[in-house]
Amino acid sequence: MLMRMLKLKHLNELMHRYQDRVDTALTEFLPSKELTPTQLHDAMHYAVLGGGKRIRPVLAYTTAECLGADLADVDAAACAVELIHCYSLVHDDLPVMDNDDLRRGQPTCHKVYGDAMALLAGDALQCFAIEILSHGDFSQEQTRSRLKMIATISSASGSTGMAGGQAIDLAAVGKHLTIEQLEQMHCLKTGALIEASVVVGALAANCDDNTMKQLKAYAQCIGLAFQIRDDLLDIEADTETLGKPQGSDQEQGKPTYPSLLGLQGARDMATKMHSCALNALQPLGDKVDPLRWLSSYIVERAN
Ligand code: IPE
Ligand code: IPE
Ligand code: MG
Ligand code: MG
Ligand code: MG
Repeated sequence: MLMRMLKLKHLNELMHRYQDRVDTALTEFLPSKELTPTQLHDAMHYAVLGGGKRIRPVLAYTTAECLGADLADVDAAACAVELIHCYSLVHDDLPVMDNDDLRRGQPTCHKVYGDAMALLAGDALQCFAIEILSHGDFSQEQTRSRLKMIATISSASGSTGMAGGQAIDLAAVGKHLTIEQLEQMHCLKTGALIEASVVVGALAANCDDNTMKQLKAYAQCIGLAFQIRDDLLDIEADTETLGKPQGSDQEQGKPTYPSLLGLQGARDMATKMHSCALNALQPLGDKVDPLRWLSSYIVERAN
């Protein structure tokens, strides 16, 4: 019990520290709202700065810090994964996708700025993520690391990553998927960017190939667990806690883990993914304990 409380205290402190850090960096990086076209820049600020758990930047910072990297070498990548994620949420909520009106406890971007401006805000956020990663004066070693970060984040976001998973999601509405197909969809639409978040943290630390292999295996497990928990929360939580409409999946006939395996089956699968994540970290020793805490958080989180 005491160990569990200590673990929670450390996890809370760690998450707050990294959430504050990425919020400060994002606020500094984003183009001013006064810059023309002001409405587009306003929509970008709205989509990025209005809350969110910041789990992807937290994963990037935690991985890097556990491996001894300087956090200043992670700021751009931490912002980039969050910017891609925010863009994916803006597009995910559009009427042509999930048609949701509430996000992070506020009206969705398209409800405030209109569909076309929300579409453009998403487009601009995506490009901005790559822009901040590629700007600056870099040493040869930093240049290599930045290029790898850009390749990692771009492929995790594109047709063989998040966007691909979203395409499968849309095509699956009202249909039955096998568990293998559902797993593939979740690994792409959510898992890929979560994996990329861990990988960019590891790249900042310039870790060895074996460490990278174990971290990727860890990240794939928590990525799938993250979306399974999201599916469960869509049923079990309430709109106020979620900050997004409860029951959206069922209303739209989305295949999810609970719809295929039942609530308990989905919970068991998330627990299994947590165990697999811990197994993957086993060879890396105590120094990656914060990544273990984050895996527990992902399967237990309330929103
Ligand atoms: C929601 O992501 C969309 C999914 C990929 C499941 P998050 O639960 O990380 O959303 P925020 O960033 O905290 O709002
Ligand atoms: C979205 O999955 C995954 C993304 C790439 C944005 P969901 O559609 O389940 O995410 P929420 O529940 O709207 O946040
Ligand atoms: Mg969706
Ligand atoms: Mg959605
Ligand atoms: Mg969901």
